[in-house]
Amino acid sequence: MLRDWSDIYLIGIAEIDRQHQGFFTAAHRLYEDILDRDGKSAVVEAMAFMREYAEQHFQTEEAFMRQHHYPSLQEHLRLHAGFFRRLDELENDLMIFGPSQALADRALDITQDWLIDHIADEDMLYSLHFRAGAVS
Ligand SMILES: [Fe+2]
Repeated sequence: MLRDWSDIYLIGIAEIDRQHQGFFTAAHRLYEDILDRDGKSAVVEAMAFMREYAEQHFQTEEAFMRQHHYPSLQEHLRLHAGFFRRLDELENDLMIFGPSQALADRALDITQDWLIDHIADEDMLYSLHFRAGAVS
């Protein structure tokens, strides 16, 4: 299900919050372009945009975690790598089977829903780590 961005997803680090909103937009664009079956090149472009956006965003997060000596960095890196594995599988299936409602739903699950869970479960942890360090 398409969800609107909500401030309950904010983790309190302005640059990363801004990027999370952009990630959300990229996820919605991908979903909608898959459903718009006439626009094959739009799907390819939306997929490339999603991938590039995620790469840049993860780089920002990873640099931030390194800078603040986040102890669970390695685990977090594995989660980011897992995101790209699922995106690769989706892209593969889109090329083999072509766009469909089922693949659009899967795209939303892999991108939007993944991001929501990832923010709440993982990004919040490094934010708390950072904020605990910032006040002590
Ligand atoms: Fe993350």
